[in-house]
Amino acid sequence: MSGNFLTLAQPGVQQLSPYVPGKPVDELARELNLDPANIVKLASNENPLGPSPKVLAAIREELAELTRYPDGNGFALKSLLAQKCGVELNQVTLGNGSNDILELVGRAYLAPGLNAVFSEHAFAVYPIVTQAVGADAKVVPAKEWGHDLPAMLAAIDAQTRVVFIANPNNPTGTWFDAQALSDFLQDVPEHVLVVLDEAYIEYAKGSDLPNGLDFLAAYPNLLVSRTFSKAYGLASLRVGYGLSTAVVADVLNRVRQPFNVNSLALAAACAAVKDAEYLEEGRRLNESGMLQLQEGFRELGLGWIPSKGNFICVDLGQVAAPVFQGLLREGVIVRPTANYGMPNHLRITIGLPAENARFLEALAKVLARG
Ligand SMILES: Cc1ncc(COP(=O)(O)O)c(C=O)c1O
Repeated sequence: MSGNFLTLAQPGVQQLSPYVPGKPVDELARELNLDPANIVKLASNENPLGPSPKVLAAIREELAELTRYPDGNGFALKSLLAQKCGVELNQVTLGNGSNDILELVGRAYLAPGLNAVFSEHAFAVYPIVTQAVGADAKVVPAKEWGHDLPAMLAAIDAQTRVVFIANPNNPTGTWFDAQALSDFLQDVPEHVLVVLDEAYIEYAKGSDLPNGLDFLAAYPNLLVSRTFSKAYGLASLRVGYGLSTAVVADVLNRVRQPFNVNSLALAAACAAVKDAEYLEEGRRLNESGMLQLQEGFRELGLGWIPSKGNFICVDLGQVAAPVFQGLLREGVIVRPTANYGMPNHLRITIGLPAENARFLEALAKVLARG
């Protein structure tokens, strides 16, 4: 008799739902027989600027080396990041996207009988990395869509090994300030690793959002994760990093795939770190696009959740699924948030001005149809 390889999977994995990504442009084009060139995708918090020319040049140069394994220690990129972030080289962990860093934390610190604490409406990967290793997820109700840090503190118990907090949070875009982070870190027990996920931090520069790096020296149980996928515009290459104590970095390094970041990604990220202009341009574009969408929502009489990311959740005041489908038929892909416990919202990534306008027009049209 053959085995049932679903029930043979470890219990946490059996109960897992796979991550649902934003719908790819080509998929929608195939399904609705649309011209991909006319489709606008504002669904995955990608950078609408496209890659920086300096990054493309660095990738081209690296192409000749494809036959070789990448530098498994990522020396050049780690050196740049250590310098930029004011840490030692041995405090940096490179990941295949920051997603990889979250997974390494799960594999290294979670197991059956242990738990991770995170918020309602938090990033969908936190439950995945937790359940994948058979640990329990302690999901704390959100407060005004954001992390309720005191309630998260109260949820920590002797079996808690990890707390995942994103600032700003995806998909809500909500954030907490330096005082709230400081109060939280002061009270988190020493046996709990706090993963401060700053995937969107570059967009929040100059606001009241704290820089997690400022807290690293005082809190050995803090890991800050960041990514090149968003503000640096390299989502497809998969590069992210963790900053922590050297001890935590050493532990993560033990469970890391030997060559988890490929050589094109390493070269691109090195060029990206040095390209401050690109980052600034993206930030400005994001700020004006955010205002453009908010103005559009106001005109349509819709509410939204204030956001410090490169995306915003609009409140449709009704179940959003039919509107999402209507937008698809108009060639506009956004992100439904029902699986984040937000059935009346849609999450829109800030695009180029013309893309934002196209979305707002399509939204007005779909809503008018009723
Ligand atoms: C909050 C948050 N953390 C981490 C990630 C992972 O991104 P990546 O693996 O591309 O770095 C994302 C991506 O959407 C995110 O929204």
